[in-house]
Amino acid sequence: MCGIVGYIGKRQASPILLDGLRRLEYRGYDSAGLALSNGRGIEVLRRAGRIENLRKLVAETNPRGEAGISHTRWATHGAPTDSNAHPHRDQSGRLAVVHNGVIENYQQLRDWLKTEDHKFSSETDTEVLAHLIGYHYDQSEEQDPVQRLVGAVQAALPRVKGTYGIAVMHEDAPSVIVGARLGSPLVVGLGADEHFLASDVSAIVAHTKDVVYLNDYDVVTITRDGFDVKHLEGGEARVTVSRVDFTEDDAEKGDFPHYMLKEIHEQPNSIRNAMRGRLSRDEATAILGGLQMTPQELRQVDRIILSACGTACHAGMVGEYLIESLARIPTEVEIASEFRYRNVPTTKDTLQFVISQSGETIDTLAALREAKRKGIKCLGIVNNVASTIARETDGGIYIHAGPEIGVAATKSFTSQVAVMTLLSLLLGRIHHLSSTDGLELIDELEAIPDKITDILKQAAHIKQIAEKYAHVDGMLFMGRLINYPVALEGALKMKEISYIYASGHPSAELKHGVIALVKPELPSVFIAPHDAVFEKNISNIEEVKARKGPVIAVATEGHPHIEKVADDVIYIPRCPSALSPLLTVIPLQLLSYYIAVARGCDVDKPRNLAKSVTVE
Ligand code: AGP
Repeated sequence: MCGIVGYIGKRQASPILLDGLRRLEYRGYDSAGLALSNGRGIEVLRRAGRIENLRKLVAETNPRGEAGISHTRWATHGAPTDSNAHPHRDQSGRLAVVHNGVIENYQQLRDWLKTEDHKFSSETDTEVLAHLIGYHYDQSEEQDPVQRLVGAVQAALPRVKGTYGIAVMHEDAPSVIVGARLGSPLVVGLGADEHFLASDVSAIVAHTKDVVYLNDYDVVTITRDGFDVKHLEGGEARVTVSRVDFTEDDAEKGDFPHYMLKEIHEQPNSIRNAMRGRLSRDEATAILGGLQMTPQELRQVDRIILSACGTACHAGMVGEYLIESLARIPTEVEIASEFRYRNVPTTKDTLQFVISQSGETIDTLAALREAKRKGIKCLGIVNNVASTIARETDGGIYIHAGPEIGVAATKSFTSQVAVMTLLSLLLGRIHHLSSTDGLELIDELEAIPDKITDILKQAAHIKQIAEKYAHVDGMLFMGRLINYPVALEGALKMKEISYIYASGHPSAELKHGVIALVKPELPSVFIAPHDAVFEKNISNIEEVKARKGPVIAVATEGHPHIEKVADDVIYIPRCPSALSPLLTVIPLQLLSYYIAVARGCDVDKPRNLAKSVTVE
């Protein structure tokens, strides 16, 4: 998704803007630009392609200015070209805008503006927005340029249908930057004699940890000395200063070649963080105060819906198995983009969770809002603190995975699964789960991080297997029961970073059509831990081998029998079946990572993808 960084203060703006955009690269983009108030007017520099192209242009032109706005664009309307890159100017050329989101009625607005003799130089919806704000600025009779600019933004935005996170500058008001948001995140950074605006706090955490997360319909004015937030329709807005709980190093890749590999290796600690302070041996249960529900209220729950997209949805599918097996509460996973348009039957005691790493995914946010329209209590399982989803739910559980920069979700998946295991333990213990069962689960959970460390020590072995299969055009992922969602997740990882066509299936589905695909050039990955269906998986592997299909197996150590049937085996430590996804997914993350590297893919910024899908 697009990224926004704004700065106004005591320092030259361009280095801060460029560094901020670099920290947002992981979100996916295809062009970049900035605008600076240079004392003589507003200077705009834009380039298609990587931020490095913009950096070179800045170095050549050496623009000056202590106030500026910048943007990385993920093309929605118009190809990734210099002229479509943001910032965009208005008709007068004296106002500049950067914008995240989609203006759905941009064509109608463009047609109307043309009747007012406006001329456009790009194909973008954002240029229309710039002209609309500029139109209201020029029509205004307000003498004070700052109030005139704020008033123009407040007049233009109600005419917009769609989503926006914007930053606006005008030559008449060089001492301010105006921002506004609806459906696309925007955060204000508070500094000493300087203030920031960004679409993601990781862009500015190097400069300040004190931030204000804006709400929908907020309009903010930032200056060197301060900021002021108003509601779009006037009046003061609710402002809360938050303290960022991670450092700029957390959002850097350190000695790792890619964020994704760093985040895969962070999982022993990220899972410890997900469980920290949430396990009670005395009560043999989990403590999840963020649910803001009493045991009595939780005991009333007679149905659970889990809504999410992508990897978060796969985590929800694992959660479904866990909640139903440990707490015996009927649970179903609804893909968020489906849920928001379906009419799912619910009961008065239905409880819904939305699961989202970013907390900004538009379909998951829409599912949340639809659930609330229907009076369903809706909680979040979210990583990004103070994200839109986190703030709109009735409570929830933060997964505390730290910033996940790689587009491919890894540690957020295992932390989401860990949190849902805690939720299942809590729900089980308020129904029928015994304290001995609860304590046993706690012991096994606390052993998981070290077991993941043991798997990560096999990275070289997994890399060898990856290089053996890096040339293939397709891959099947097979798993049963609680490891079927892991097969889906392994297939998604492979698709999104190595661009190999991959699909996940319940192992028994092989004979219902999938096996027609099996051939020597098509490897099958079987997730076959030593559980109740291990022998069934072995039979499926033999079916594939009988048709000369190569097989990679993820299996439990101490059961070498599988080496007789599989071509390659990656062993995981023993663990209860209920916790096996926390281990079986690790080899699949590494397998897809090393295959993508072997294929020369851009692992952290895969083509066509964005880290947070905030547009439909
Ligand atoms: C997973 O690797 C992808 N990046 C994508 O499927 C992602 O899980 C999905 O877009 C949901 O994102 P969220 O967890 O931030 O809502």
